[in-house]
Amino acid sequence: MIALGADHGGLQLKEAIKKYLESENIECKDFGTFDETSVDYAPIAAKVAHCVANGEAESGILCCGTGIGMSIAANKVKGIRASVCSDAYCTEMTRRHNNANILCMGGRVIDEAKAVEFAKIFLQTEFEGGRHQRRLDEIAAIERGEL
Ligand code: RB5
Repeated sequence: MIALGADHGGLQLKEAIKKYLESENIECKDFGTFDETSVDYAPIAAKVAHCVANGEAESGILCCGTGIGMSIAANKVKGIRASVCSDAYCTEMTRRHNNANILCMGGRVIDEAKAVEFAKIFLQTEFEGGRHQRRLDEIAAIERGEL
């Protein structure tokens, strides 16, 4: 299951991604927002991040104006590796090297077609492990206050 969330700045991207996931019969849980009314991004990021961190969702996608606020907020949740991406290369690499579990995108940065393209890449690309796992272990050590 994929957890989805957006503020008003990312609503259209989320809707496009949701439509794509539904067309592929990929289960998703939509944490809002559901209309263009201005809404704060942090509580929505928190809901999606907790859903991923507790294992209910395999991964998450968060959209706001830039993707940045969503990523900063989501990365406060232990176990979350949220990446803002605005090109295909970074989207692929953040799965292969960072094992990112939340993709963040900006509705004022990329269009809906690119958001769907990057969502596909994100969901289809595997983590490479190996030396990259050691680096993720070091990030987890920072989280535990050991580095
Ligand atoms: C909302 O105007 C905007 O600040 C938000 O969507 C996001 O871009 C923050 O990082």
